[in-house]
Amino acid sequence: MKILILVGGGTKHLQPFVKAGVRLGVEVVAASFSQLEYSSGDCVLRISGEDLKNFVVIYIRLVGERSEDAAIVAQYAVKNKIPLVDSIFARGPAAHAPLKKSLETLLLVKAGIPMPSTIFGSLALLLNKAPQKFGYPFIIKGTYGKQGHAVWLVKDKGELEEIKGRLEDLEKEGKRFLAQEFIKITQRERVFVIGGKVMGTVTLSTKWRRYVQSLDVSRPARRPLAEQETYRLAASAAKALGIDVAGVDVIRDNETGKVYILEVNSAPRWAKFQKETGIGVEEEILKYLTTLSA
Ligand SMILES: Nc1ncnc2c1ncn2[C@@H]1O[C@H](COP(=O)(O)OP(=O)(O)O)[C@@H](O)[C@H]1O
Ligand SMILES: [Mg+2]
Repeated sequence: MKILILVGGGTKHLQPFVKAGVRLGVEVVAASFSQLEYSSGDCVLRISGEDLKNFVVIYIRLVGERSEDAAIVAQYAVKNKIPLVDSIFARGPAAHAPLKKSLETLLLVKAGIPMPSTIFGSLALLLNKAPQKFGYPFIIKGTYGKQGHAVWLVKDKGELEEIKGRLEDLEKEGKRFLAQEFIKITQRERVFVIGGKVMGTVTLSTKWRRYVQSLDVSRPARRPLAEQETYRLAASAAKALGIDVAGVDVIRDNETGKVYILEVNSAPRWAKFQKETGIGVEEEILKYLTTLSA
């Protein structure tokens, strides 16, 4: 039984998977999309010369800049009935992880997952509608963002004027945005889900916790998030998107106590989780991947 794990860049950080494979007695091939090849003669898709059909499961771990290659792998895997993780890749060429936040939000809301109230559209539309719909403060997010690099808190009209020019420049480059109600949170629960099963959670901080603390609305926050509800929501959100290895952020409004999904991360980092829980995440992922082989 041979499992293929693919990444957009170098394969060095996949070594823990290879080692976990040795412990479990599963052969793991860690490869980069740059090793992909085919010839129009037979149209066999190979990675370092080996037909992808030789693998029982393909886990696309990180796409990076390689969505072109990921699409080729996905269609070959679907055609040859090789199970794909994350399963979103098997949904068709337009769907792949990481999902843009615009499509992610739409799919989650449609699946009945509670999300912060959101509008998507041109910047002109967002800047016109968001202040009326949400009042101040509200959130603007680049749909492409990750690790908090493209999220802005707009506290008043002055701040809106301040960031407007910068956002307009980004929009001209082709970036898209959404506006969102601001949820008063000082922490989030990062729930790790593998193949529909919740492995556990870690508590992480939030970007505007000091601002929220200054608002003095944190009374209900002392009540911990109910574990069952958190787990159920996180697992449903991951499933709705077809992200089988997911880090789902669950939040609760300090003021109202309402619970929301903030986002579903594919290929989440798990150093902190592993340290706190002692769970060998690579091993758990491999165990899941082996259950998919026919
Ligand atoms: N609607 C929101 N209300 C309050 N804080 C938010 C909201 N959206 C995002 N944030 C804050 O910004 C951070 C990054 O946002 P997120 O949607 O997770 O994007 P990214 O993909 O960049 O991590 C979150 O961890 C949270 O602290
Ligand atoms: Mg995030």
